[in-house]
Amino acid sequence: MILTTGGAGYIGSHTVVELLNANFEVLIVDDLSNSKKEVIDRIEQITGKRPIFQQIDLKDKQKTFELFQKYKNIEAIIHFAASKAVGESVENPLKYYENNIGSLLNVMLAMKEFGVANFVFSSSCTVYGQPEKLPVTEQTEKKPAESPYGNTKMISEDILKDYAVANKNFKAIALRYFNPIGAHPSGLIGELPNGVPTNLVPYVTQTACGLRSKLSIFGNDYNTPDGSCIRDYINVVDLAEAHVVAIKRLLECKNKSNFEFFNIGTGEGVSVLEIVNTFEKVNKQKLNYEIVSRRAGDIEKIWAETSYANTELGWKAKKSLNETLISAWNWEQNYRAIQK
Ligand code: UFG
Repeated sequence: MILTTGGAGYIGSHTVVELLNANFEVLIVDDLSNSKKEVIDRIEQITGKRPIFQQIDLKDKQKTFELFQKYKNIEAIIHFAASKAVGESVENPLKYYENNIGSLLNVMLAMKEFGVANFVFSSSCTVYGQPEKLPVTEQTEKKPAESPYGNTKMISEDILKDYAVANKNFKAIALRYFNPIGAHPSGLIGELPNGVPTNLVPYVTQTACGLRSKLSIFGNDYNTPDGSCIRDYINVVDLAEAHVVAIKRLLECKNKSNFEFFNIGTGEGVSVLEIVNTFEKVNKQKLNYEIVSRRAGDIEKIWAETSYANTELGWKAKKSLNETLISAWNWEQNYRAIQK
C-alpha cells in the first residue's frame, strides 16, 4: 500500500490516479484544507477503483502514529501535504514552518517507529533561485530561499539528507518540480485554487471563463526574447507518472544512494506571453490582458536539464504544451458547469 499525504490535492490526485492505474493499493491522507472530498469520487470515476481515504491533519503526531498503527501494510509514502502559496508564506511564515516541516517530521518519526523505509518528497525548482547558468542540472548550486515557502523545501531536503546519512535503511527521492500545469484529460480532476489564483494558468483559465476580468502579465522588460519571464511548464499527468516511477525505483531497490533528487520538468523554457498566445490559439479564446509592472520575488528565467531524470529514472515528459493548455481549459469549463 502506498500512502499519499495530500492525495486529494492537485498533484496528489493526479498521482493517485496513476498509482491505481499501475495497480498499487492507495491510502490517501488529507486534511482537506486546500482540497475537496469529491475528488475521491472523481478518482474512482476515472480509474474504477476507490482509494482508501482518511481525513487527518499530519501536524497531529498522535493521529499520525495511529494511522501507521492501523495500516500496517504501508510500503512507501509520497508526501505531498504542504502549504504552497509563496505570498501567504511571507505574511504567515509560522504557518508554513509548522505545516510543512511539522508534518514532515511527524511522518518521518512514524516511519521510523513502524519500520517504513521508502519516501518520495515533493520538492521544487525554487531551491535553485535564479541560476547563473541555464538549464539547471541537479548539480546546480542551491540558492538561499526567497520565501518561507521556498525555505521549507530547502529545509525538508536537508532533513531527508541528514536522516538518510544516519539511517541506511531509509530511502528517499526528492522530485524537484518545475511549474506543474494542466489537468487530467478526462476533465474530472484538476487544479482548484482557493480564492483568487496566484499561479499563471489558473488565472488564465478563470479569465477566459469570465470569473476574472483581466489577466495581469507581470513585466515585459526582462532579459528574455519577448521580455516576459520564462518557466518550464510540466503537464501534471507527466509529473504524476514521475512519482510512480520513483516509487517503483525505491520498491525495486534500484536507487543509487539512499537520498536522490531529480529535476522534473520538460527541458523547455516558455515565456508568459507564449503561454497566453498558445492558450488563445489552441482554445480559440480571446484573453483580456495587460502588461503591468514586475511581481516582487519573481525570477527572470529557469528551465530544467532533464537528462538525469530521463536516463537514470527512465522518465520523460511526453505531453505537448498545446494539449496541456487544452486540458486546463477543458477542466475549468467542466468544473464551472458542475458548480452551476
Ligand atoms: N504570472 C503573471 N500573471 C499572473 C500570474 C503569474 O504574469 O497572474 C507570471 C509570473 O510573473 C511568472 C509566471 O507567470 O513569471 C509563472 O508564475 P506562477 O505564479 O504560475 O509560478 P512561479 O514560477 O512564480 O511559482 C512556481 C510555484 C511555486 C514555486 C516556484 C519556484 O507556483 O510554488 O514556482 O520557482 F515556489
